[in-house]
Amino acid sequence: MLDRKALTEMLLWRGRDQEALFARARDSRADVWRDQVIVRGVIEVTSACVRSCDYCPMRNENSMSRYIYSTEDIINLASQIAKEKLNVVFLQGGEVPGTTQLIADVIPDIKALFQGAVEILLCLGNKPYEDYKLLKDRGADSYILKHETSDAILHHQLRHAPIGERINCLNDLIDLGYKVGIGTIVGLPGQSIDSLVNDLLMPSYFKVTMTSASPFIPAQLTPLANSPHGDVDTTLNAIALMRIMYPHLLIPTVSALEKLSPGSQVRGLEAGANVVTINFTPPSEVKRYAIYGSDRFVVRRDHALQVIEMAGLQPAISL
Ligand code: 5AD
Repeated sequence: MLDRKALTEMLLWRGRDQEALFARARDSRADVWRDQVIVRGVIEVTSACVRSCDYCPMRNENSMSRYIYSTEDIINLASQIAKEKLNVVFLQGGEVPGTTQLIADVIPDIKALFQGAVEILLCLGNKPYEDYKLLKDRGADSYILKHETSDAILHHQLRHAPIGERINCLNDLIDLGYKVGIGTIVGLPGQSIDSLVNDLLMPSYFKVTMTSASPFIPAQLTPLANSPHGDVDTTLNAIALMRIMYPHLLIPTVSALEKLSPGSQVRGLEAGANVVTINFTPPSEVKRYAIYGSDRFVVRRDHALQVIEMAGLQPAISL
């Protein structure tokens, strides 16, 4: 039905064609999710990272100061998430070995805060099988490990690591019974439409429950600082196509959309996304987690609820 040629063309639809694509995506979403949007609370546990991805300001060779939260810091923020009645705690951070023990230690305490009624979602990069197993045994439910781009050459160029390493980690996570998420950055310098089509097809090759498309943001302090940003409409079309191809997957509408063009996080929901993430990093510390550069768009509760309401949808939990 949607072959490669159709997908290639549809990624570039604009105007009336694009609206029709979004309407079809909303129908697919409604069939499975009705009007419900999943709301997550994210805690940014560390800005340290061993990687040197060319698009990311948290890359290892940048000599900014780095933090790693204590178990207390994390539990304090998790109790705020509990107080705000969200039921997904998303623990995200740069790729460092130290997060394994830290997060393994806090998961049971976080679960206790919610009397067990919480999903523990992790995004902590590549780790050995034993680390993923420890985290799973301690109660982690799900893990996002974005593949960033399925173009093996571009992936290696930009991340200085072979895509095979990520894929091995993905397979480990799937074997261990995690619900797994992948994701693509749209508009990376050197990315072809053909490889974006491959990104759209990834969930048909891996047993994932989440996928995402975020626009590339040229961030200061990176080798790609002067490259053009990713196209918002192409990103939105990728979201819509993912929804139509995989109605059951969780697909977020990301803050990077809002950063590039205010209002486009609502457009993400109009294009078929069904997840919004609220950021619980204290305002005084937002700049220390330098993703997308220091002037990123930070999604707070009011913004998230407004975006959901503007799209005519409801938070999946009663907030
Ligand atoms: N533009 C878009 N996405 C980015 N990420 C990191 N840097 C950028 C950027 N400059 C995304 C990557 C990473 C996630 C945490 O943030 O997809 O996996």
